[in-house]
Amino acid sequence: MNNIGDLTLSEKQTIQTILIVDDEDIVRQSFCDQLEDLGYQVYAANNGKAGLSLALEKMPDIILTDLRMPLMSGIELLEQCVQLLADTPVIVISGAGLIEDVVQALHLGAFDYISKPVRDPNLLKATVSRAMQQVSLHRQNKNYQLHLEQMVEQRTTQLRETNSQLELHKHSLEKLVDERTKELVLVIDNLNQTQQQLIDAEKMASLGRLVAGISHELNTPLGICLTFISSLEEKLTSFQRAFYSGELRREDFASFLQSARETSSIVTSHLTQASELVQDFKMVSVDVSSEKKREFDLVEYVKNVLNSLKGEMLETKISIEYDRENDFGIESYPGLFTQIITNLVMNSLTHAFASGVAGAIKVELKIAQKMMTIIYQDDGRGMTADTRMQVFEPFFTTTRGNGGSGLGMNILYNLVVNNLSGTVECHSEINLGTKFVIQFPLSQ
Ligand SMILES: Nc1ncnc2c1ncn2[C@@H]1O[C@H](COP(=O)(O)OP(=O)(O)OP(=O)(O)O)[C@@H](O)[C@H]1O
Ligand SMILES: [Mg+2]
Repeated sequence: MNNIGDLTLSEKQTIQTILIVDDEDIVRQSFCDQLEDLGYQVYAANNGKAGLSLALEKMPDIILTDLRMPLMSGIELLEQCVQLLADTPVIVISGAGLIEDVVQALHLGAFDYISKPVRDPNLLKATVSRAMQQVSLHRQNKNYQLHLEQMVEQRTTQLRETNSQLELHKHSLEKLVDERTKELVLVIDNLNQTQQQLIDAEKMASLGRLVAGISHELNTPLGICLTFISSLEEKLTSFQRAFYSGELRREDFASFLQSARETSSIVTSHLTQASELVQDFKMVSVDVSSEKKREFDLVEYVKNVLNSLKGEMLETKISIEYDRENDFGIESYPGLFTQIITNLVMNSLTHAFASGVAGAIKVELKIAQKMMTIIYQDDGRGMTADTRMQVFEPFFTTTRGNGGSGLGMNILYNLVVNNLSGTVECHSEINLGTKFVIQFPLSQ
């Protein structure tokens, strides 16, 4: 009988141990011998009490116990073992004729029983090895359960770590999104400001173009007036001289009167023309620089703008068409239309008719279903598909370096879409001219 209390668990698992408790020395010894022969490590005690303390100390794999013993009976030992060593199978050894004791023991949780004296050693071997099998299954089960628990714990820890990493990541992402949003808001603010500045600049530019056009137009009638008045002044001087010297003849008088009348008529006609131009210009220029909404006749207004641009257009033929039965009086921002028409006309002049060939521009105005439609077209050289697709993009120009900033059509787009809540389409093909269709609702 070896003392294996100090062995490690794995060694203990390879050497199977049995505690035998019996008060009859011969019986106990015979069990010991048989079990040792079967390869088991055996501990022995001669009563229940000693058996229990040895069981608690050595933790054998199984216990074989006699039932009737001094100090502590086998039944009491069994009860203690069921409580304290629940995983250790207890096989009871009973003398002949004590079947009630066996039944009670099995009720209390005994694994099996063996009658003594043991005549067939195979019976003992079979019973013990079944008990050993149960122990080993039990252990495997426990190990498996332990392994599972460890695995669950490990995975839980991993998940917890991943979770906290994710949480950290989420925080830093949120921070990043926050920062980027702030940056974007700034960029958008800047862009809005820049766009407003560009719109203002373009407004001034279109005013500049108007001024240039108007001065050219005024120059001609004023020049003619000046020439005629100067010539009349010369005639007046010689007329005066002839009158005071008494040399004035009747036909000189008639000729002077004739010249004076002609001059007066020519000067009146040209000054009227100039004054009309100034009226048009006054109306348009005031609207360009102010944002006031007012009621006006769109047809008359577009005519005014086209008239103001006449100076720029030289040989270009301009026609305007509209349904005379409709009332084109609208309440809107007239300055917007100056900009829209000016930009369209200037584009036709710079891009469509750039070759110097005089072209034609047609503006149509229509009202249908509470929508105003302005169709602007020229019969110039048109655009490539590529240019047409980008025509409304800011800074897109095919004349960079030749004065084009590429903002004209973008500003037109913004005015129509944002200020008039409308739409604008561009139709154009190479050599087939260009058409812009602008639509906007009348009540805004
Ligand atoms: N009527 C047209 N016929 C042919 N091409 C045109 C016409 N209108 C616009 N384009 C094309 O569209 C481009 C963009 O026009 P946009 O008015 O935006 O810029 P731009 O005229 O080049 O410069 P700016 O800012 O001085 O007006 C032009 O460069 C030109 O290639
Ligand atoms: Mg332009």
